[in-house]
Amino acid sequence: MKFRIMVVDDEKNIRDGLAEFFKMEGYDVESMPDGIAAHNRFQKGDIDLVITDLRMPGMTGEELLKKIKSESPGVPVIVLTGHGTVKEAVQAMKDGAWDFLTKPIQDLDRLTLIVKRALGNRERRLKSKQLEEELELHKQSRVMIGNSAAMNHVMDLISRAAPTRASILITGESGVGKELVADAIQKLSPRKGKPFIKVHCAALAESLLESELFGHEKGAFTGAAARRRGKFELANEGTLFLDEIGEIDQNTQIKLLRVLQERKFERVGGEETIEVDIRIIAATNKDLLAEIKKGNFREDLYYRLNVVSIFVPPLRDRKDDLYLLINSFLKTFATENDKEVYSIDAKARARLENYDWPGNVRELRNCMESTVVMAKGREISEDDLPPNIQSITDKGWIRIPQGLSLAQAEEIIIRETMSVQEGNKSEAAKVLGIGRKTLYHKLREYNMEE
Ligand SMILES: Nc1ncnc2c1ncn2[C@@H]1O[C@H](COP(=O)(O)OP(=O)(O)OP(=O)(O)O)[C@@H](O)[C@H]1O
Ligand SMILES: [Mg+2]
Repeated sequence: MKFRIMVVDDEKNIRDGLAEFFKMEGYDVESMPDGIAAHNRFQKGDIDLVITDLRMPGMTGEELLKKIKSESPGVPVIVLTGHGTVKEAVQAMKDGAWDFLTKPIQDLDRLTLIVKRALGNRERRLKSKQLEEELELHKQSRVMIGNSAAMNHVMDLISRAAPTRASILITGESGVGKELVADAIQKLSPRKGKPFIKVHCAALAESLLESELFGHEKGAFTGAAARRRGKFELANEGTLFLDEIGEIDQNTQIKLLRVLQERKFERVGGEETIEVDIRIIAATNKDLLAEIKKGNFREDLYYRLNVVSIFVPPLRDRKDDLYLLINSFLKTFATENDKEVYSIDAKARARLENYDWPGNVRELRNCMESTVVMAKGREISEDDLPPNIQSITDKGWIRIPQGLSLAQAEEIIIRETMSVQEGNKSEAAKVLGIGRKTLYHKLREYNMEE
């Protein structure tokens, strides 16, 4: 795909310099001396990315940015600011700028990288136009961020599976975004305006889960004072999201299988057969094939649920998404907490990018929230990060910050040793001077089994 970049600056040498540079990089470039000319050109269409100065006579960069964002929110705008205009830059980010750079621009590599990422994101969105429109619509709520090959694959699966009636099984470690995937599927499906009911299967005891799903008749069991409709009835014509499906008991599995096969069921303690039209999305962080082998999960149910399977990879396997996620959470929490934190210095960023994120996006999100809340300056530095992220290995060293408990320190030592030994448990146990069994035990205790 060949992209067209528009450069807007009232200073001729900057405008021409950038235009020249991006032409050499292989882009089509248009350059404009002020906001009004730029806006006129923009309205003719065909512009994929805008780089604009903020202070210009006539229409300012801010106004241009706002106009572009309201007319074509999908076109990234990168803003150039003078020294000492942090406030303006922050405001521009709030108004929807993709990123900003301080003039004079010394780091052309960084600019190139920003442009590449912005255009990569745009390309993905153009390729799944429908997804783009939907995601734009829900920008204010919960949007799935990511532009790694792995996430693009997930988004691709979502947009292909969403319009169908097929059951979908979403798998992946805790915190990778399975629920967000389910939300996206629902929003893109023809059942969008219809009920979308979520059931957290792990949260309910066996007997309660059954009546929660299928409802019950009055007097079906002690405490059933009135007839109650279950989630299957409530979700009729819409979508039912069964979260943590790996946790449901054998008995409920059989009933679930029947609904999936026949779309029929009875309320607990009832005779009447109820027919429903629902689409099922299920999610689990368990390895269901292993659960089948162990006899904990029915194979026939598995195949019914798993018509389309979507695996959401752990964050450590898609480090390309880190950059986008970090920036986005930074923006979200800075706005939410009304803090003028707008960037992360290189060292802190390296820490974040080198960390393994065993708790995946949820952990990153929490980390960014506490970091932003605790940040002392406008730029996040290493000291602002939570201790467990600060203390990763410098070649040959493990840094343990003051103030940790013995258990926290132990966790760091084990994690780092495992990583240096590339996950080899026997070697790690040897280095740590403990038995393999003890190590296994501790890995489980600290949630580091994988
Ligand atoms: N790609 C993403 N972009 C933005 N936020 C994300 C993304 N993936 C996950 N999150 C956020 O991370 C948190 C965890 O996501 P979610 O609840 O969907 O994970 P999950 O896979 O269902 O986890 P669990 O197995 O523990 O239920 C949420 O706050 C969610 O908004
Ligand atoms: Mg979940």
